[in-house]
Amino acid sequence: MTETQILTLVTGGNRGMGLELVKQLSQAGQRVLMGSRNLDNGVAAVKQLGLTDDQVTVIQLDVTDPASVTQAAQTIENKFGYLTTLINNAGAVFDGRQAPSQVNLDDVRADFELNYFGLIDVTEKMIPLLEKSSQAKIINISSMMGSKTAALDPTTNVYQAVAVGYQSAKAAANMYTVQLAKEFQRRQQPITVNATDPGMIATAFGSGDPEKSKAMGALPIEDGVVRTMELATDFTNQATATFTNSDGAVGW
Ligand SMILES: NC(=O)c1ccc[n+]([C@@H]2O[C@H](COP(=O)([O-])OP(=O)(O)OC[C@H]3O[C@@H](n4cnc5c(N)ncnc54)[C@H](OP(=O)(O)O)[C@@H]3O)[C@@H](O)[C@H]2O)c1
Repeated sequence: MTETQILTLVTGGNRGMGLELVKQLSQAGQRVLMGSRNLDNGVAAVKQLGLTDDQVTVIQLDVTDPASVTQAAQTIENKFGYLTTLINNAGAVFDGRQAPSQVNLDDVRADFELNYFGLIDVTEKMIPLLEKSSQAKIINISSMMGSKTAALDPTTNVYQAVAVGYQSAKAAANMYTVQLAKEFQRRQQPITVNATDPGMIATAFGSGDPEKSKAMGALPIEDGVVRTMELATDFTNQATATFTNSDGAVGW
């Protein structure tokens, strides 16, 4: 099959900011693939948005399960034969508020399985599909929590926050972003790779209560996808190896 339409995969697309991205990308005319580790949850989310099968296709995708990732890539290959944009959005925190001196290693491993190893596995398996597009992009949903600059700056919220496993996994994903971007540049391949920071957003992230986080200053979901939507709909596709939010560059 030849490339006919912008085709974007959003991992963890069934709720939170992933679902908002699915909604806004389909409104922008893109064909969207919603990765959802529970297929029924994904189907229900699409139904709730009132979107059609022509706008959104739900694909079972658990980013920590290599067989699921392989199968998802195979499904995209069979149905479409290419991919234009990969948005690595799936993420969670497992070691929130644990003291670094006593952090539970199983929780740190879980942070890395999802936010780092899973991101790499999905990316590697989708690259052959991205290479079939005339230009392609990978957007990694990172976090200011992964910024060492912010962690050392007393004027930021991140200064007070502690989730060393999650923060390290996001920092590692930032380095993967830089190195992968440089590899494509060296090979003169038209695939850009960027990281974005959504800000503090009122979702159920970390099993949180969106209403409580709103009361603590978290912003609405729509605000969290602004920078990612800018990149996802930027047809010049020049920016690469960046870490940005809606205010501009974020310190690594
Ligand atoms: N909320 C914030 O303030 C904030 C700030 C900075 C960065 N972020 C980042 O933004 C991204 C989205 O977060 P969010 O706030 O929208 O969180 P959320 O509402 O908790 O949504 C997380 C999504 O990830 C999915 N997911 C979890 N484990 C998965 C797995 N193994 N395989 C596939 N999908 C999986 C969830 O699916 P299920 O429904 O199956 O659990 C859900 O769709 C994350 O990468 C997060 O680190 C969030």
